[in-house]
Amino acid sequence: MPKIIIANWKMNPASLKEATKLFDSILKNLNPKAKNLELVIAPPFVYLGSFSKLLKTKNYQLKTKLGSQDVFWENKGAYTGEISPKILKNLGVEYVIIGHSERRQHLKETDEIINKKVIAAVKAGLKFILCVGEDLTVRRRGKKAIENFIKNQLSADLKGIKNYKLIAKNLIIAYEPVWAISSNKNAKPDTPEDAVEIINFIKKILLSKFYFLNSKIIYGGSVDAKNIESFLKYKEIDGALVGGASLTSDFIKIIKIAQKYE
Ligand code: PGA
Repeated sequence: MPKIIIANWKMNPASLKEATKLFDSILKNLNPKAKNLELVIAPPFVYLGSFSKLLKTKNYQLKTKLGSQDVFWENKGAYTGEISPKILKNLGVEYVIIGHSERRQHLKETDEIINKKVIAAVKAGLKFILCVGEDLTVRRRGKKAIENFIKNQLSADLKGIKNYKLIAKNLIIAYEPVWAISSNKNAKPDTPEDAVEIINFIKKILLSKFYFLNSKIIYGGSVDAKNIESFLKYKEIDGALVGGASLTSDFIKIIKIAQKYE
């Protein structure tokens, strides 16, 4: 099965020049034959317009899609500093990341806010990557606690959306245990076996609570060129959300490995 790889550049790099260089180096290294790989680059908002143009002029659309790292829940109006689903769509953005743990942690984004963003993305027809995952305190309490935590996040974040049609194909869940994200102290990747266990649990919840079949579920947290294969080899893991390593030459290696899955 083809995989999906999403690059979350976070608040990097510092200039459009550097960002364009990085973007270009990724595009140049794609194998045009591996058209089944779903590759999404999510740079800071301000680079999206420029990248969108670049994709058009160089005719790269088939291979690479643009994602944003967040989205607001209204389409227009007096919301200083926010970016709407409509603005993103008009720029050619097809994917949005919602509920990343860094926003939950540092910006105190609640499940209620995340749910509004999910609904807005659904209405706009954007594909959305909903991030869920437990922190270290929950992890230490054991498997039941992790499952409960994730079940609660999914229930709150996806509240009210089961009435919308065709959502399942636009929904990607990123299982990102917070303690595994490389920006956290002493972070280390989850074991693929544990990740598969939680991913199977997420699938069960999506089906039993929301009747979603076939939504993609990916893993994120300290993914790099050395460990990517150990995750992707599992059919249960549909791909990866890559942060730190997506800014380095590791990312080309990651893509090359992911392109083998057709
Ligand atoms: P990381 O980040 O790959 O640097 O751990 C993943 C993420 O935060 O989405």
